[in-house]
Amino acid sequence: MSTDPLSAGTPSCLPRHVAIIMDGNGRWAQAQGLSRSQGHRAGALAVREIVTYCRKIGLRHLTLYAFSNENWNRPQAEISALFTLLLDFLKSELPRMLREGIALKVFGDVDGLPLPVRTALKMAIKRTEQGRDMALNLALNYGARQEILRATRSMLAEGLSPEDVTEERFASHLYSAGQPDPDFIIRTSGEQRLSNFLLFQCAYAELYFTPRAWPDFTPACMEEALADYARRQRRFGKTQEQIDAGNSTVSGSEQK
Ligand code: FPP
Repeated sequence: MSTDPLSAGTPSCLPRHVAIIMDGNGRWAQAQGLSRSQGHRAGALAVREIVTYCRKIGLRHLTLYAFSNENWNRPQAEISALFTLLLDFLKSELPRMLREGIALKVFGDVDGLPLPVRTALKMAIKRTEQGRDMALNLALNYGARQEILRATRSMLAEGLSPEDVTEERFASHLYSAGQPDPDFIIRTSGEQRLSNFLLFQCAYAELYFTPRAWPDFTPACMEEALADYARRQRRFGKTQEQIDAGNSTVSGSEQK
């Protein structure tokens, strides 16, 4: 296993879309005798390294769960620290996103974020919208149930009749419209749940849970996770015999 992201090879069966629940900043900080905000700072460094690695290996879609609807319940100082880190990230990473063809997108209610964050996000989204090599989706002020309700309301507002409500039409009203469903969901820090993350889009996703806290999730850990994904057999409801007989192979990198 390579520990240097720049020397990492492209895993054989790369998913098209990886989504990560970055959990454990607080516990990581506590274990080091640091504040929760310092844990998030270490988490932000891990974000930079993982984005760099994913771009390097040619991953096309990466979604990071950075701030859920429920995270508003955290202490105000922690929320402020998270938004400050996000602003720093946008400022420092924008030139690289532009250089490397990364399009920044937000899954979630941008208009519910504080004004400076909203403004910086909208500017970065606009400036990177021509990026063709990778979509970096930040789930911010996001909840999957809220996303599903929003899509439903939007279809009702369009006056669609029940028979027009297909899976494809529904998906086109989600934040992820135009992007493939996540093939692979990673959650760090030992918890084994989805926590209101991409519930519609994750229908066929492979799940990967690691005890490592997010700040310790290095590119080498990502490489290991992707190797695990590449070994999996995705069946999408078919039998093994159907898969063996047909050309509908469902190895790690195949989509529905
Ligand atoms: C979960 O850890 C993490 C979050 C709620 C926020 C994730 C934010 C970052 C990784 C840093 C900033 C993001 C960007 C995009 C620059 P937790 O606090 O729930 O950890 P715990 O469960 O151990 O308390």
